[in-house]
Amino acid sequence: DWIMGNYIEEAIAKIREQVGDEEVILGLSGGVDSSVAAALIHRAIGDQLTCVFVDHGLLRLNEGDMVMDMFAGKLHAKVIRVDASELFLGQLAGVTDPEKKRKIIGGLFVDVFKAEAGKLKAAGNGVKGATFLAQGTIYPDVVESGGTKTKKATTIKSHHNVGGLPEQLGLKLLEPLRELFKDEVRELGVALGLPPEMVYRHPFPGPGLGVRILGEVKKDYADLLRRADAIFIDELRSTIEPNSGKSWYDLTSQAFTVFLPVKSVGVMGDGRTYDYVVALRAVQTSDFMTADWAELPYSLLKKVSSRIINEVRGINRVTYDVSSKPPATIEWE
Ligand code: XMP
Repeated sequence: DWIMGNYIEEAIAKIREQVGDEEVILGLSGGVDSSVAAALIHRAIGDQLTCVFVDHGLLRLNEGDMVMDMFAGKLHAKVIRVDASELFLGQLAGVTDPEKKRKIIGGLFVDVFKAEAGKLKAAGNGVKGATFLAQGTIYPDVVESGGTKTKKATTIKSHHNVGGLPEQLGLKLLEPLRELFKDEVRELGVALGLPPEMVYRHPFPGPGLGVRILGEVKKDYADLLRRADAIFIDELRSTIEPNSGKSWYDLTSQAFTVFLPVKSVGVMGDGRTYDYVVALRAVQTSDFMTADWAELPYSLLKKVSSRIINEVRGINRVTYDVSSKPPATIEWE
């Protein structure tokens, strides 16, 4: 609409004025905020923007390729894809404690991004070095870090935190979404031409599948989980709830699959199987502080379960998580 059109024009003018002829780096995660920030900044300054996409190997099925197709392929933005999966999986080998896993993933992420940003910051080959770091900070993030929200006494889960990066890197900050709420960021994303499926995607935690594989993270587990999860999401997207006309994907706030590294006995044909278990998780919530498990139709659960067991060799049992938050959290780790 024309209001968003005006907003985009103003935002572009502001970015151009702030950046001038300098170079900008942005950490692209595939999440909504960094994607919309990238699309907006790219529209404003084109090739003066370089996106750095760190692939930690714990992304969902085809996610890395989809991010590249969208930003490098369709938008023609400069994107550097850093394949760091071996580094991450190597450091995670043998580690089972959820907080340790989070710390390792968060720490490595910062290291890898810093190394890449450092290269871009250094001028060379006739290319000017970058002087700005762009971030997809939105208004609720600003409020949160300003200490307006009361801090919890205990840390339940340490979140990925890239705060302090600009100072450490000696870069100026560019945060074009600072005044927007999530809904506005989504509208802006659609107005900028990003696909609605990307802009209205469920949240995905920074540590990715690293916190959806219980205990030790292994590549084989991640591969099984990716395939099972893709089936679950696919069925949620394609099953329409008749009263609302919406898909079950849109009727849930977050839905995903969790890999349980235990084996149980099953039977297939004449044979006995002894394979892994996954849990399906789907919740409805307005703020992610509390959440109810979603009352998905049995027919949908049945279809997902039979598809996973038939299509993903190595998994022979599917369970549905019927725990609300609190006392359970949304993620299992
Ligand atoms: P929990 O599991 O604490 O999750 O109920 C609440 C919401 O936060 C997301 N989450 C994260 N998001 N980095 C993120 O950006 C993280 O480290 C992280 N851990 C959990 C979770 O997916 C849910 O939406």
